[in-house]
Amino acid sequence: MKKYTNLNDIKNLSDTVQKAIQLKENPYQFAHLGQHKTVVMLFFNASLRTRLSTEKAAKNLGMEVSVLNITNAWSMEFEDGTVMNLSTSEHIKEAAMVISQYADIIAVRAFPTLKDKEKDTSEIVLNGFIKYASVPVINMESATDHPLQALADAITITETKTMNKPKVVLSWAPHPKALPHSVANAFVHLMHNMDVEFVITHPEGYELDAEITKEFHIEYNQEKAFKNADFIYAKNWSSFTKYGKILTEAPNWMITQGKIGAAKFMHCLPIRRNVVAEDAVLDGDNSLVIEQANNRTYAAQIVLKEILTHLS
Ligand code: CP
Repeated sequence: MKKYTNLNDIKNLSDTVQKAIQLKENPYQFAHLGQHKTVVMLFFNASLRTRLSTEKAAKNLGMEVSVLNITNAWSMEFEDGTVMNLSTSEHIKEAAMVISQYADIIAVRAFPTLKDKEKDTSEIVLNGFIKYASVPVINMESATDHPLQALADAITITETKTMNKPKVVLSWAPHPKALPHSVANAFVHLMHNMDVEFVITHPEGYELDAEITKEFHIEYNQEKAFKNADFIYAKNWSSFTKYGKILTEAPNWMITQGKIGAAKFMHCLPIRRNVVAEDAVLDGDNSLVIEQANNRTYAAQIVLKEILTHLS
């Protein structure tokens, strides 16, 4: 693996998941692979799990870790040919080339604006680093994707499924703020690569990018979608067609214990209790959210390990 910016960078998902599960059993088996190697983690946005799990993963491999919250650095310009006489002080060209001198791997988190659809779908920040960095780049959640979360979710489903082809439902859930599509998109990408019966459910108007979902059934009736589900993955996202807008808060779409029955409950976290899902769901025996977060470490670790193995 030479980079990890989307799930397509994994050649064989089930093989990679099995390797991650082996790492989980013995996390220090490659403790010298990353010696004298550094991952620089750049955060344009907040994080708890991604930051700590990726740092832990890197340290399990013997790597050094540098973390930069970009809000503490010079404000960055991404457009080519800009006359930089306004608010931005440093161009991505120099920034990426300079950071490449300090890093063997660069990991980037950069959320969408949710205001400028063209800019967001072009992945201007992530692609800027891919274009100008001279070292491999890892996507720690970009404007449209969250492949480390997807890989952790693949590990979690693989570890907990009790049948060959489980029914998995991705359900939109309410949230007071306009949120990105990245986690939902990443989960849909993942479902293309797993042997599951997959259904997406959301109120009308919350359709994700049709290019991503076109092969899957969209069921606008949440109750119908949840029937016989083995896994229910809840996530809020804002409208894609009316870009970044909240169309309805739809509190009746909150995930309740009564709705999910015996299905396992998944969410990437952080989650707003009693808005997205009720306490009984999160505190119940079928909640996988803490294990999903645990698997973030081994998702990051297998990605870092595969990239380290291919560094020249
Ligand atoms: N799920 C996830 O990416 O969590 P953080 O935003 O806390 O990193």
